[in-house]
Amino acid sequence: MSPSLSPNLSPNLSPCDQALPYVRAISAYQPGKPITQLAREMGIPVERIVKLASNENPLGMSPKAKIALEAAVSTLERYPDDFELKAAVAAHTGLGRERIVLGNGSNDLLDIAARVFLAPGRSAIFSQHAFAVYPIASLTAGAELIAVPARNFGHDLDAMRAAIRPDTRLIWIANPNNPTGTFLPFPQLESFLRSLPRDVVVVLDEAYNEYLPADVNGDSKDWLGEFQNLVITRTFSKIYGLAGLRVGYAVTSEEIADLMNRVRQPFNCNNLALAAATAALDDHEFIARSYQLNSAGMEQLVAGFRQLGFDFIPSYGNFVTFKAGDAATVNEKLLRQGIIVRPIAGYGMPEWLRVTIGIEADNRRFLQALESARG
Ligand SMILES: Cc1ncc(COP(=O)(O)O)c(C=O)c1O
Repeated sequence: MSPSLSPNLSPNLSPCDQALPYVRAISAYQPGKPITQLAREMGIPVERIVKLASNENPLGMSPKAKIALEAAVSTLERYPDDFELKAAVAAHTGLGRERIVLGNGSNDLLDIAARVFLAPGRSAIFSQHAFAVYPIASLTAGAELIAVPARNFGHDLDAMRAAIRPDTRLIWIANPNNPTGTFLPFPQLESFLRSLPRDVVVVLDEAYNEYLPADVNGDSKDWLGEFQNLVITRTFSKIYGLAGLRVGYAVTSEEIADLMNRVRQPFNCNNLALAAATAALDDHEFIARSYQLNSAGMEQLVAGFRQLGFDFIPSYGNFVTFKAGDAATVNEKLLRQGIIVRPIAGYGMPEWLRVTIGIEADNRRFLQALESARG
């Protein structure tokens, strides 16, 4: 050890004491319990476990994506080339490639947006019960978080507008929202955007957009012409069934896309993810099948909650949040029966649990387990 360094070393000083205070204030993201973890913890065979905890696609991945993925294995000695996926997203959205940013999952894009626009001395607004990554990304960038109380478990857009301060630079909106499943009608969202100062960026997270019924779905990317402050994020983790590959995209103005691309890690989407996502985007048959399975499963769960007498929040996603009462105990009893759902106490909803819509047999097993768990 160099003698010149020793006077600064104190045996009592932890390097963590030097960590940024706003990083120390972050609560880590709590993922759904993996199947293998429950198997280890409770000795339940993996094949007896039903995981309905992470809003994954119960049909697996798009078959077209699987073929593309297998072919891409032979390219892994090369750094990725994102040309094809950007071309596919450009064709899918009708937007030029210079307005597209690719992410290692859409969480990566949320983090990139925060790093472009947030810093100590700036604030970000999000809704109570909104997706957990918004606080994490905002706090990591050093910004102050303004949490606006929810209205009927969803975003209260009037209150969010009223919460804007001179130092506010970013507003997070999830539509539909996770974990509550609430949905903001497109005309309402459009008026909200129109009412905002144009130097406040809105990140509109549409991770569950593909599950919206046609009669309520709209085309938010049409707003990009009018609102230069809008960033829309989408993911391949949900209806496309590629959660494990980590890939998503953002569409925005050319200027914001350019800034986000400067902050992005080079090669943030790997070869397998790029190939699979490109193929998945075009697999209309798989998307339609996934949508139909979700609608049928939603009806099954809602009927089950009604029959068992559980309150639930009407959902526009691939999950439903229901009032379990003593949610921690109900969750534990479900786990003992091999059913993994998602406790959401961390979202300020300690009496509620969120269940992902699964295949018919798994939904049935969940409802049977819930009936015996309510005790
Ligand atoms: C609202 C919302 N946004 C973003 C994500 C992030 O998804 P991913 O990073 O897998 O694209 C999720 C995942 O659960 C989500 O629920």
